[in-house]
Amino acid sequence: MTKTEIVEQIKIAKKEKNAVILAHTYQNPDIIDIADVTGDSYALSLAAEKLGEKRVVMCGVRFMAETVKILSPEKDVVLASEGATCAMAEQITPDRVLKFKKENPDVCVVAYINTTTALKAVCDVCVTSSTAVKIVNAIENKDILFIPDKNLGAHVKAQCPDKNIILWDGYCPVHNQITAQDVIDAKNQYPEATVAMHPECPAEALKLADMIGATSNIIDYCKSCSNPVIIATERGVCDYLSLKNPDKKYYQLAADKLVCPDMKMTSLEDVLAAINGEGGEEIVLTEEVRLGAKGCIDNMIKYSK
Ligand code: 13P
Ligand code: SF4
Repeated sequence: MTKTEIVEQIKIAKKEKNAVILAHTYQNPDIIDIADVTGDSYALSLAAEKLGEKRVVMCGVRFMAETVKILSPEKDVVLASEGATCAMAEQITPDRVLKFKKENPDVCVVAYINTTTALKAVCDVCVTSSTAVKIVNAIENKDILFIPDKNLGAHVKAQCPDKNIILWDGYCPVHNQITAQDVIDAKNQYPEATVAMHPECPAEALKLADMIGATSNIIDYCKSCSNPVIIATERGVCDYLSLKNPDKKYYQLAADKLVCPDMKMTSLEDVLAAINGEGGEEIVLTEEVRLGAKGCIDNMIKYSK
């Protein structure tokens, strides 16, 4: 089938199966083009609840599909590309957190949404990169364990001086590669541009940023800027911005490093198969684990208001 034929088949299948397509901004432009909803992890986690369709096809990584299932258990949720996972989400197991909690019962455990459902089930509050500072400031506890991303954790710690934040040793293998030299090189190459960076990058590089924020914050920042912007996050965001604003200039920082292989796994064929129940990964959660993780996500929604 040609690309046009697959896109046509997707439109027909969506109607037949009462399906909706959600896509993280890091997805390939082909997927962004056919998605019904695009956004960052916070926007996607809330989107499905408000949609009427019974079948939700998530173009992203597993924790995003699981978050939809946690909040909308009555829906059939399918991860379009089987096995697409966030490398950071797999870096920490629940037993390590349970051990910490036993030894530190008064510490509030804050989990980045880039975690497994089993891990969320043993944590207290979830955050996304766009909501982390607001939520951590709003939590009553002074003592907080922030897991798993040490870079986002350090960024939050700097923004929340009243809190005693203990960091874990996890990181995103994609963003963690960015160095201060990468930023200096990009600034030298494009001196007219400002630099927008994702807080999953290391602190030594973030120090040189003009703006630090999650995917949605970077997109909003770019909308408000008349100058060109160097984008220091997964290259899907720069592709997205260039697609939506062809008259503006966006430059990708360290293009060879900022590619998340799991986010790029989804193809149009995967999406069609997932709608039709012939491919992808159907999300199944036990009620016990789902409800455990839901407490953590409900707290995220409560504290981010
Ligand atoms: P956002 O919260 O900005 O969508 O980030 C998700 C992610 O995986 C970052 O690498
Ligand atoms: Fe996970 Fe990093 Fe990929 Fe985001 S870019 S999904 S944090 S591995």
